[in-house]
Amino acid sequence: MTTFEQLATRQRACRRFDPSEDVSDPDVVAMLECAVHAPSAQNCQPWEFVVVRSPATRREFQAIVQASWTGAGEDYAREHLSPGMFADIEDSIAGGGLETAPVVVVVCADTNRVAEMWIESSIFPATQNLLLAAGSLGYGSCLTTGVPLGFKDKVVDLLQLPDSIVPMAAVFIGRPAKQLGAPRREPARQHMHREHFGVGWDE
Ligand SMILES: Cc1cc2nc3c(=O)[nH]c(=O)nc-3n(C[C@H](O)[C@H](O)[C@H](O)COP(=O)(O)O)c2cc1C
Repeated sequence: MTTFEQLATRQRACRRFDPSEDVSDPDVVAMLECAVHAPSAQNCQPWEFVVVRSPATRREFQAIVQASWTGAGEDYAREHLSPGMFADIEDSIAGGGLETAPVVVVVCADTNRVAEMWIESSIFPATQNLLLAAGSLGYGSCLTTGVPLGFKDKVVDLLQLPDSIVPMAAVFIGRPAKQLGAPRREPARQHMHREHFGVGWDE
């Protein structure tokens, strides 16, 4: 059995999925049941999840991502990302990797339920629960914000979102096409301070 610690420390962005494998509706519900158990400001629970399976809609997402990539995204990414990460992201966009995800969950915020200052902080704990729940069921997932935040109007049109519902993230989910290596992270101790900032954990 996978422990929570293993789940949390192995969780990674998966950007290409096995096209022969689906994500069942019961699994989608199980993942989103974990998502809605996240904390939110004043317990306002401002989330709405649009679960997209339609190949046509997924192709639209891919087209939006692609347009932003060939606009300015690719040049920026080449300059700022490690070569490995650049290759991974290029494959997910230009190579169509993200389009292989059988399910995209668009995580939205209901602005009638949450004050603007708490939108992100109330939406992303639920989104992280979704990523961890996907991992616990053996799925890969990729949290993206580029399409929902950068091309909000297109997403609103595509998903027929009412005025009060704002798209915040698109989470691509499926069985990973290949096993991902361990995430590269600096150790927690490197970012820990005893009592005051600047007093190292091991001092
Ligand atoms: C707020 C946020 C936005 C992200 N947006 C994207 C995105 O648009 N496209 C993408 O491929 N990955 C996106 N990611 C995933 C990150 O690139 C990934 O978590 C990070 O590079 C760590 O890589 P790893 O999961 O492979 O260890 C996003 C992650 C976060 C937290």
